[in-house]
Amino acid sequence: MKKKIDIEIIDKKQIPQSEPERQYYFMDIAKNYVEQLAAKKGSPLTFHVTTFGCQMNARDSEKLVGILERIGYVETDTEDADFVIYNTCTVRENANNKVYGRLGILQNYKKKNPHMLIGLCGCMMQETVVVEKLKESYRFVDLIFGTHNIYKFAELIVTAMESDSMTIDIWKDTDQIVEDLPVERKYSFKSGVNIMFGCNNFCSYCIVPYVRGRERSRRPEEIIKEIQKLAADGVVEIMLLGQNVNSYGKNLDNPMTFAQLLEEVEKIDGIERIRFMTSHPKDLSDELIEVMARSEKICRHLHLPLQSGSSRILKVMNRRYTKEQYLDLAERIKKAVPGISPTTDIIVGFPGETDEDFEETMDVVRRVGFDSAFTFIYSKRTGTPAAAMEDQVPEAIVKERFDRLLKEVQDISAEVCGRDVRTVQEVLVEEVNDHAPGLMTGRLSNNTVVHFPGDASMIGRLVPVYLQESKGFYYMGHIADKENE
Ligand code: SAH
Ligand code: SF4
Ligand code: F3S
Repeated sequence: MKKKIDIEIIDKKQIPQSEPERQYYFMDIAKNYVEQLAAKKGSPLTFHVTTFGCQMNARDSEKLVGILERIGYVETDTEDADFVIYNTCTVRENANNKVYGRLGILQNYKKKNPHMLIGLCGCMMQETVVVEKLKESYRFVDLIFGTHNIYKFAELIVTAMESDSMTIDIWKDTDQIVEDLPVERKYSFKSGVNIMFGCNNFCSYCIVPYVRGRERSRRPEEIIKEIQKLAADGVVEIMLLGQNVNSYGKNLDNPMTFAQLLEEVEKIDGIERIRFMTSHPKDLSDELIEVMARSEKICRHLHLPLQSGSSRILKVMNRRYTKEQYLDLAERIKKAVPGISPTTDIIVGFPGETDEDFEETMDVVRRVGFDSAFTFIYSKRTGTPAAAMEDQVPEAIVKERFDRLLKEVQDISAEVCGRDVRTVQEVLVEEVNDHAPGLMTGRLSNNTVVHFPGDASMIGRLVPVYLQESKGFYYMGHIADKENE
């Protein structure tokens, strides 16, 4: 058989049918191919994974890295590598454009390195128009797969290596969750943990439900087992991940609420901090607020996407809460968890947004006083209900509103972020500060960044830091000693 890369193909007998055994079988075959190629090259093969998009994609990339390392590739920090894979995002148009732009550069690398393999996966690949375009104009890509079959990565690498053309495998949806595959964490001391996949909410602007499929919760036993293993491996902070964690557990055989799951996670020794992302306001229960208020480990931070402050727009967005309900919820949480930092996501320029609607958004921003807000210009996603709506807002108006919102958000966060100044707070030390020698960077429970003198041996530890000065979005501090405690 004619193939792109020069390898001796292994005859496959008795391929296991069950997962994850099947994938481990293919990892062994891929490992053999990687060894053959490395012997020819005279040095180990290298790989690079580039991630676009959200925390869910970042966690998926750690799974890609886990498999690539297991089959013998060595990570490198450049895309001039033997295997490059882009884990893509399609939530806004500019996320897509970035990928097309960078593929041009990869093509140049491939011209110099004929054994190079280029892979594309993630949310963008779930869109038919994207795959058609790639088939048409980006023939040098070797492997394309989607979000539902990422667990098959090892098997797909083998197919791509043995094939002489583009390997494409995209599934429309799945109800499968495959556990126990290799994963390589980016940080030694913190980790994301998927608790659910997909989304059932169909906010009218959003493409995620179409590219990530229906909501599926992982079984609590699997989640707890994974976190216990992480804790045993030195992880102190976990972030529970899902598009709408507040609806966790509804489709389990033995249904359980997100608040109940949090209580189980709280019991795990070694885990000091628990974060979660993302909370949909419509499903945030009183039970969750109570659990947060009682918890010793859940961080004093809540990311609660607002999207718009106008009840009229919220209805068209299919968010299923009103401005008043959002404000009431924010109030109740602040009361129950003193000092909590609320953060949010806001979309500007949704179809039909009037000046009055926008002022409602500004009003909520002022009233809640977010520590930070991710502000996005509405991006039309083909196939979503909002894309077909009339009254798309003219670009100049959107731009003006966006700038005004951003300024307001920044002014408010400069005011509220410093609320803990001149107190001692626990900081999880994350990294050496690249810009200032001798300084370390870490985060408070409420996610605010702190810089302070220290050394790399502190990374991954929780240390008491005196927050000497607030700089708006971050603090300067120093390790607390007896005098200023
Ligand atoms: N599941 C999360 C959001 C995931 S997408 C939630 O419900 O909050 C992250 C953010 O991207 C969203 O909160 C929204 O603010 C933004 N976003 C999603 N679709 C968008 C679009 N079409 N245009 C602009 N921003 C969008
Ligand atoms: Fe998108 Fe809404 Fe689902 Fe979030 S909840 S992923 S915004 S559809
Ligand atoms: Fe993007 Fe997919 Fe996340 S579209 S925001 S990477 S779920």
